[in-house]
Amino acid sequence: MKNILITGGAGFIGSHVVRLFCTKYPDYKIYNLDKLTYAGNLENLKDVEELANYKFIKGDICDLELMRQIFADYKIDGVIHLAAESHVDRSIKDPFAFAMANVMGTLSLLQAAKEAWAGTMEGKRFHHVSTDEVYGSLHNEEEFFLETTPYDPQSPYSASKASSDHFVRAFGNTYGLPFVLTNCSNNYGPNQFPEKLIPLFINNIRNGKPLPVYGKGENVRDWLYVVDHARAIDTIFHDAKNGETYNVGGFNEWKNIDLIKVMIKTADRILGNPEGYSDKLITYVQDRAGHDLRYAIDATKLNKELGWEPSLQFEEGIEKTIRWYLDNEEWMNNITSGEYEKYYLEMYNNK
Ligand code: NAD
Ligand code: TYD
Repeated sequence: MKNILITGGAGFIGSHVVRLFCTKYPDYKIYNLDKLTYAGNLENLKDVEELANYKFIKGDICDLELMRQIFADYKIDGVIHLAAESHVDRSIKDPFAFAMANVMGTLSLLQAAKEAWAGTMEGKRFHHVSTDEVYGSLHNEEEFFLETTPYDPQSPYSASKASSDHFVRAFGNTYGLPFVLTNCSNNYGPNQFPEKLIPLFINNIRNGKPLPVYGKGENVRDWLYVVDHARAIDTIFHDAKNGETYNVGGFNEWKNIDLIKVMIKTADRILGNPEGYSDKLITYVQDRAGHDLRYAIDATKLNKELGWEPSLQFEEGIEKTIRWYLDNEEWMNNITSGEYEKYYLEMYNNK
């Protein structure tokens, strides 16, 4: 595989995957297809945009004709599919947008791949990037999500991702589409849109704004540094057998309120505030509707079969992440001022 289509490459995880592939594989041609929704930001790829093996294409994965054209024009033989609506709170407000992008978008990409690769499936690969949220919510501390855990999505977001996973497997079973599928836990690190817990709270600590903790802050998430997720995608994309599924996670569970306390302590130290200074910002608010209690991934299969393990301890990763957001105030301000999309569209549309 040499001509790789990465969808959603201007988003949080996608930008790290694009960077890894462009720099690690100079003989590949990387096509980053992104609609540049509110979450897409080409500033995430400033250090990559001049590389000879990188090309940005602005487009919507729901546009089947465009997908067909891209497969034909660029002789795409590998796909890493990340484009999606990704925020649970937004899915509660507008589930239709999630069905459209995540289900119909994935379906149109699958259809284009199937048509383009008909009769020549050998050496092709469709890597679908999904979430552990498709497994639903864990209610006792001994349980972990395994690749064999039955799907039980609880939010409109996870229902749309579960549906997209089913379509990927259905295309594998019905048309012989060569696929691999990964279900990853919560990612953290640079470039994440400040609607998600970690970047939102770091930004609010800096600005002395309230930190809205949903419910009692007792929900548990399993956090993985985003570059380790990108490394896992690289390993699985290249080394996994067709039709395999891998769970990706860091064995790193945190109760929200404990994680928030670590963030406050670290940010206050870096900002030169006295210890405990930002504790007063913690504000308990109404819980998220249908809030999943606990996610926890068992990534043993990936470790045993393909040798992947996280490279970064959480303490190191969270410190690095907090420093990145505090150091990159302009990145944050561009996003929160709402002007970056128009600006970057004019800047990069014709590249
Ligand atoms: P993100 O919201 O930061 O980025 C999504 C990207 O997709 C954006 O650049 C956006 O412009 C683009 N996009 C959205 N709709 C599109 C469309 N119709 N056509 C083309 N591009 C479109 O998301 P993320 O957090 O980077 O997540 C990437 C993928 O990884 C998603 O599929 C998500 O479900 C999955 N995932 C995320 C996490 C996490 O913790 N963030 C964990 C596991 C899996
Ligand atoms: P989030 O980053 O939205 O990821 P996900 O819902 O996909 O796990 O939220 C992580 C956890 O933090 C989740 O339990 C919800 C909680 N949360 C808050 O308590 N307050 C907030 O403002 C946000 C955005 C999330």
